[in-house]
Amino acid sequence: MTDKSANKMWGGRFTSSPATIMEEINASVGFDKALAPYDIRASKAHAAMLGRQGIISKEDARKIATGLDRVMAEIEGGEFVFSRALEDVHMNVESRLKELIGEPAARLHTARSRNDQVATDFRLYVRHWIDGADETLAALQLALARKAEAHSGLIMPGFTHLQPAQPVTFGHHLMAYVEMLARDRGRLAGARERLNECPLGAAALAGTSFPIDRDTTAEALGFDRPCANSLDAVSDRDFVLETLATAAIAAMHLSRLADEIVLWMTPQFAFVRLSDKFTTGSSIMPQKRNPDAAELARAKVGRIAAAFQSLLMVMKGLPLAYAKDLQEDKEPTFDALASLSLAVAATTGMVDDLEPNAEPMRVAASSGFSTATDLADWLVRTLGLPFRESHHVTGRIVAAAEAQGVGLEGLPLEAMQRIEPRITKDVFSVLSVENSVKSRASYGGTAPQNVRKMAKAWIKRLEKQQRGG
Ligand code: ARG
Repeated sequence: MTDKSANKMWGGRFTSSPATIMEEINASVGFDKALAPYDIRASKAHAAMLGRQGIISKEDARKIATGLDRVMAEIEGGEFVFSRALEDVHMNVESRLKELIGEPAARLHTARSRNDQVATDFRLYVRHWIDGADETLAALQLALARKAEAHSGLIMPGFTHLQPAQPVTFGHHLMAYVEMLARDRGRLAGARERLNECPLGAAALAGTSFPIDRDTTAEALGFDRPCANSLDAVSDRDFVLETLATAAIAAMHLSRLADEIVLWMTPQFAFVRLSDKFTTGSSIMPQKRNPDAAELARAKVGRIAAAFQSLLMVMKGLPLAYAKDLQEDKEPTFDALASLSLAVAATTGMVDDLEPNAEPMRVAASSGFSTATDLADWLVRTLGLPFRESHHVTGRIVAAAEAQGVGLEGLPLEAMQRIEPRITKDVFSVLSVENSVKSRASYGGTAPQNVRKMAKAWIKRLEKQQRGG
């Protein structure tokens, strides 16, 4: 006699229920209930196909579909009671379906397994996230491009080694992130394309002896085609890994911008202001205005990259096909993807909110002999010096200016001529930061007219995408 407490979904050969600790380590419903909408959608597609193929009766297929709609309504209404004894979302849904419609529910699991079920659900989940993420990343790009257009000519120091290097414009700096995010979106689109094959019908691992039609279930669920190999279909999670890797790279990009916002917000830099909407105070130091949102956006990359690493380690060396190890794919993924979405939304809010302070940016841009390269280029252009030589001459002029405690613009012509007699007063035309940025009109350079053009083009493209074009 089978113990009544043995699992009713697979307990036929079992005589007693699992140990409590077995149930605890085995159950996934606590987190995989997030897959319920996808599980139900996939089950409906499967049942309809079984009905069409005459594997179950049309009547049973219809009852299953209406029953699944009721289960979904219960879940949405918060009335559904998930049970740990039923292990996971798949068995919870099916068990409730049985309570609601009786015998036909028991026919739903024909020609499938939880292995192809969970692989399908998770693909649908990740695909849905990718589509949403693409939109939120585009919104961030648009916020950046609009801010960049508004400040296409605003001069700030460009840094290398975090030392003032050459003047750039604030718009140019922001547009750099627009390009990074474009590549993140491209990577997501690539991941989506490879992800979009349907595992359903691979069954446990080997396919099925029932005359199923995998093309129609794939199509009904918005997949491009069924997965071509049943073992691969149930056992790989590379679609998650690719998405997590992309998410980690995107989070890394956000962390760089976030770090710059933190830096720019310091009184020492004072390059930008964030309003009360995106800052917090200190409970002890009344003067403080802290960029907490930026700091959190900077930190999120940690858990996102860790999720990638965690799943990669779960997968490493795992023999084909399914093993319960694969149940460990979900929690870090759910957390990582939600974290990125949150960080992107908060960053968009900050970008909209932040206002640059022109004066400190300009002062900083003029410091550190930031137009030395312009001087070196002038010596090449006007006097025909080889660049290596002009670099050396410029270095000596910088040293002279430093010794006198002035910037390059403040150094008298005679002082320059003592180093290179052929220098004329014409040199001063290239020493201002305005002329410096204006002169960098090469493709992709910081000249305000370039930046305006790029920003405008991106805004146009992004607004069109937003309208669904
Ligand atoms: N909860 C399981 C998972 O997330 C579903 C698949 C279970 N399959 C099995 N053969 N026990 O992976």
